[in-house]
Amino acid sequence: MAAAATAWGKRDDMVVRADLPYNAEPPPAVLAGSDITPIDAFYARNHGRFPDTAPHQWRLRVDGLVTRPLALTYERLTHAFEQHDVVATLACAGNRRAELLRVRPIPGKEAWAHGAISTARWRGVRLADVLAAAGTRDEPDRDGLHVAFQGCDVAEEARPVQPYGSSIPLSKAMSPEVLLAWRMNDHPLPRVHGGPVRVVVPGYIGARSVKWVTAITVQAGPSTNYFQSQDYRILPADADVDAVAAGEGISLSSLALNCDILDPTDGDRVPRGPLTIRGYGIAGDGRSVERVDVSLDDGRSWRQADLHRAPSEWSWRPWSLNVDAAPGPLRITARAWDDTGATHPESAASLWNPRGYGNNAWARVALRVT
Ligand code: MTE
Repeated sequence: MAAAATAWGKRDDMVVRADLPYNAEPPPAVLAGSDITPIDAFYARNHGRFPDTAPHQWRLRVDGLVTRPLALTYERLTHAFEQHDVVATLACAGNRRAELLRVRPIPGKEAWAHGAISTARWRGVRLADVLAAAGTRDEPDRDGLHVAFQGCDVAEEARPVQPYGSSIPLSKAMSPEVLLAWRMNDHPLPRVHGGPVRVVVPGYIGARSVKWVTAITVQAGPSTNYFQSQDYRILPADADVDAVAAGEGISLSSLALNCDILDPTDGDRVPRGPLTIRGYGIAGDGRSVERVDVSLDDGRSWRQADLHRAPSEWSWRPWSLNVDAAPGPLRITARAWDDTGATHPESAASLWNPRGYGNNAWARVALRVT
């Protein structure tokens, strides 16, 4: 039976990391339950108070280094361009921060566990088509250009306080998978997920998929918005977050190869005997997960998980493995390999960074078999 809906139409078992603004993740076993995440279980990551804009009130400005600046209404966006569906996983760069917090404290940041990642079917128009209508072409000499997005929410945590924004390289913006979306899993895009219209940038960290988008600007370099120039960057472990200047550190863009164990999860008690372990692997921009290994002895020996078909080339790839669980403590470890033969780091400690981003260490859960 479906759980009762609560705040923002979400399941009542969402783990709420903050009420204002609403930040919540589903229990990992819920995520393991379907390749496409139901809207009521899709994680929500918000940096500020967000708008309540009816579609007829919504406007989008497209300007900057374009020959024909545009001012689009919802009606025009949804009727003047060809519509496309893309199944894509959004993953927050802060997903799995809880494991980094066990290494060293990260003040003021949400302790996301396994659930700041979800997959939906998005419908919208290609950003490339809108940029082409505005007179932007993906020419080789346009290297270095960025397409900046601005939402109309108010992020009080930003310095100075400002609407949320970010940017992606023009070459990515012109790729067919990048959408201006107004439907999610065949429903109008809910307000909490950026309705009436948001950007969806498959293959990149979720932070680049700007919600409530009202301005798109083609410009000479990356966005100077706080969330691009200061936050969502990997800083050296010894950096002082209060003293770093804009532009310092490594700007996060395409997702790193990662995997996680969703079911069972930390602290579970499971009966002895047959146990199905389930999780996902995800590869970065344009790559695919080709193997997932699972260990029940902290990485001394490994067996290969059964890889399931990925719902799309822009989504996670579910996997499962049936094991025979013996009574006592059980520690499960998983790691993924991509189609270039790359795998990911073993320990969260080796990745610790002051803002707690990009944890793609081997996945580990500890439980008890009774
Ligand atoms: N866009 C706006 N306008 N404001 C935001 O706070 N959060 C970003 C991104 N887009 C955000 C935003 C982050 S950090 C993530 S991970 C995704 O939206 C989360 O999308 P979701 O809430 O639909 O899951």
